[in-house]
Amino acid sequence: MKVLGTSALTSTLVLLSILPQTLAVKAGDFRTCSQSGFCRRGRALASRAKEGIASWRSPYSVDPSTLSLSPEQSSFAAAVTSSLYPDVKFSLEVRLHEDGVARVRMDEVDGLKKRYDEAARWALVAEPQVSQDIKWTIGKTDARVAYGKGFELLVEFAPLRVVLRKGGKEQVVVNGRGLLHMEHFRQKAEEPAPVEPSEEGSDEQTVLKVENVRAWFEGESEDAYWEESFSGWTDSKPKGPESLSLDIDFPNHAHVYGIPQHATSLSLPTTTGEDPFFNDPYRLYNADVFEYVASATTSLYGSIPLMHAHSADSTVGVFHVVGSETWIDVAHSSAKSTETQWISESGILDLFILPGPTPADVFAQYARLTGTAPLPAHWALGYHQCRWNYVSTDDVRGVQKRFDEEDMPVDVFWLDIEYSEGHKYFMWDKKSFPDPVDMMNDVAAVGRKMVVIVDPHIKRSDDYPVYKLAQELDVLVKQKGGETDYDGWCWPGSSVWVDFFNPKSWAFWSSLFNPKQGSQWSWTDSTEDVYIWNDMNEPSVFNGPEITMPKDNVHYGGWEHRDIHNINGMILPNVTARGLVERGEIAKRPFVLTRSFFAGSQRYGAMWTGDNLGTWEHMAVGLKMTLANSIAGMPFTGSDVGGFFGNPEPEMLVRWYHVGAFAPFFRAHAHLDTKRREPYLLDEPYKGIVRDILRLRYSMLPIWYTAFRETSVTGLPIIRPHYVVFPNDPNGFALDDQYFIGSSGLLVKPVTRPDVTEETVYLPENQVYYDYFTNQAYRGAAKGKNIVVPAALHQIPLLIRGGSILPTRERPRRASSLMKNDPFTLRVALDNKSRARGELYLDDGVTFSHKDGQIVWREFVAEKEKKGKTVRLSSRDLAGANTATAVESVALATYDPQNSFARSIGGVRVEKIVVVGLISKPSSVSVEGGSQLQWEYVAGVAAGEKKEGVASVLTIKDPRVDVASDWAIVIKA
Ligand code: NOJ
Repeated sequence: MKVLGTSALTSTLVLLSILPQTLAVKAGDFRTCSQSGFCRRGRALASRAKEGIASWRSPYSVDPSTLSLSPEQSSFAAAVTSSLYPDVKFSLEVRLHEDGVARVRMDEVDGLKKRYDEAARWALVAEPQVSQDIKWTIGKTDARVAYGKGFELLVEFAPLRVVLRKGGKEQVVVNGRGLLHMEHFRQKAEEPAPVEPSEEGSDEQTVLKVENVRAWFEGESEDAYWEESFSGWTDSKPKGPESLSLDIDFPNHAHVYGIPQHATSLSLPTTTGEDPFFNDPYRLYNADVFEYVASATTSLYGSIPLMHAHSADSTVGVFHVVGSETWIDVAHSSAKSTETQWISESGILDLFILPGPTPADVFAQYARLTGTAPLPAHWALGYHQCRWNYVSTDDVRGVQKRFDEEDMPVDVFWLDIEYSEGHKYFMWDKKSFPDPVDMMNDVAAVGRKMVVIVDPHIKRSDDYPVYKLAQELDVLVKQKGGETDYDGWCWPGSSVWVDFFNPKSWAFWSSLFNPKQGSQWSWTDSTEDVYIWNDMNEPSVFNGPEITMPKDNVHYGGWEHRDIHNINGMILPNVTARGLVERGEIAKRPFVLTRSFFAGSQRYGAMWTGDNLGTWEHMAVGLKMTLANSIAGMPFTGSDVGGFFGNPEPEMLVRWYHVGAFAPFFRAHAHLDTKRREPYLLDEPYKGIVRDILRLRYSMLPIWYTAFRETSVTGLPIIRPHYVVFPNDPNGFALDDQYFIGSSGLLVKPVTRPDVTEETVYLPENQVYYDYFTNQAYRGAAKGKNIVVPAALHQIPLLIRGGSILPTRERPRRASSLMKNDPFTLRVALDNKSRARGELYLDDGVTFSHKDGQIVWREFVAEKEKKGKTVRLSSRDLAGANTATAVESVALATYDPQNSFARSIGGVRVEKIVVVGLISKPSSVSVEGGSQLQWEYVAGVAAGEKKEGVASVLTIKDPRVDVASDWAIVIKA
């Protein structure tokens, strides 16, 4: 096996010699708040407010005489003025949506320039419907509206303050601390004119004593208003200062989560205290941070400006749709409350307040705004084998062969950048990849897929059709001034970037994947079994400021890069996915992996947490990051198994496979400089353990797929932290190392430390939980309880919550597509009252026929007779039942239980049913109205007992029922 293709090696060496700095980038190459002018200004505002705590008063107020209600009276608009700048006008609009979400928008009116106001256009799935029956009451000093289950939204006029209350208690307060500041556009030479004091207001009297009101509020000097330098780069700031500061407080909510992506715990630590690692605000500025620190507030590859605040009786969300760099300070101001300050460089104020009151409500409210993650292709839930790089077509074939020889399931082989000639994506390096289509077909022959990388930087080379086409179409990002195409350095050397904000670029890009479209050049050296990885889309620019584009670069519509930086990465996967859907005769579900993301990116594919290190810390924080992404609407997420950098020892690698197998996106990946570490290279016992882990993942694919269906229609995350599942249990609010998988009832705690033989797991309720592998029954307690479970290297703490029914497929196969007709096993884990429930969702896993009702969606229920011990287990059609959500009812409108997909799996059986925790040995087991069945019973602890120990297990072999039909089995006591 070759270690590296010659041309790949050459191009990499050339690159390294040109760009040594790319390998030396450290977190220190990125700004801290004190190195960023607008962040400094925002924080300084907060300190001045704190110092002047008694006299501080926001200068912004609503002019009630301008207030106008919309015809349906659920929205109003009004003028806002600032006592600092009486001549500057602002507009405020407050809308209430049908589901109780409030939207607050504020912009400068008739300013010298225009603030960027299109972020919501990219993030939102559709324009939200305003309520038809919620009506504002307008008073002299405020506007208020009561709605839903005890909610009240209040807009106080002077100063402007927006409050969400529930049951009379304040839940969200905007501008309560007076940190709202929308810097208006101004002339550079403008001399600060003294402001005439206003006559009214006793608090203002104190303010008036301040010689210069503006200095009081904005500070003494123009700090980095017109130009700013960092690390040898100068930002020309042609529009001058336009930042936006906003305080959003959550009285009565001790925990806040979200605003990914940061390498930190799920419950966000305070950033304003003494902790030297957490004394900078959380930064949202999509960045390619080399060797990122495993615990920090620094920004990473993606940004979702969504925060949840949580307490035992309320969950709320705030979603501030801003595309520019944003810093967020978090202060847990008391044991019960949290204060935050959001400081953005540009853009309008566009804030959604999600009232909850439960986590599930917040997920639904956010999903209605930004959409859900669509159901991916079924194979995408299998195991993905990646490395930088498989270096030739034969290398790929060799890796596939070794997986097969070792009986290790895998669905996808990935190719990183070295497949391409000189890093011109789509163009194969024909020396090492002489027969790409044959290679792809060889992989596809065993039911597998390939994913190939296509980065957004385009080599400036006249022999590169993609470059020529983009140039001719004039869809490239421009440098400052807006005339000349921006040139930067990335893997290919001198490169340009398509400006995906330009609508002309969309069809051009999508068509590259589509050989059947008209005359434009397209990727003919490909097949429909190949899918795409979009990396480096922050965008990463090796010789740019903070490894990205200069902020004064110009995009379509004349907007500066500063305005849209965080949105930039989301359009590429969108148009790539579109290309994949359009390329075939039959539309198939796309698969695109993106590194950069923004709110709404979930609509286009999966994401991963980027270049992690092969360390235990990174393994542990990757899990927390995956949870944070999941609750912020990006459910299809995971981290590089093994760690991107470094050579993990076998113990670590094994543990990392467990972490990966319990993440929605399961991919191993490794840096160019690492040793090969495909799982078949491990020695025993590690190799065997990893084989078992892979098989475990495959056996559980029905559970994962069912969870993906749920997220695609409800927005509920696939992996769920404790506060989501047990919102009233404060013990779980900070838990982020154990989590639930969908609604399945599986609770997992991957081990992320060395030398572990047992692990503590927290059980949040008075319920029985069973060890997945041994059926050992553990008992929780009403107020929560820690238990200790075995966790030697071959073991992962995996528990089934009593009351769950898990569908699995237990026959080991080489790829998931080969499991299509495999029979199912049902594991019935009885709860304290001898009941259980579970779901199974199936469809063809490939096309969009599920949207036409070509599905099988079953509910399994086990119930015990009221008096007596007989248990009845039944299977019924859920798709036909009236339980569909609004989204589903569209898809289910055409549902027919006899649909052709259901018929195609008509013969697929349930081959085994395992009932755990029965009270006693049955006297008979039979299909209701049918024959007696064969079974075995091993006595043990019953579900409802107080005892711990191995539970009783009834195994029904070949129950002679089909998975897609209605049936019942009676287990007679
Ligand atoms: C950076 C990505 O994060 C990494 O996964 C990839 O291997 C390299 N780029 C090379 O494409």
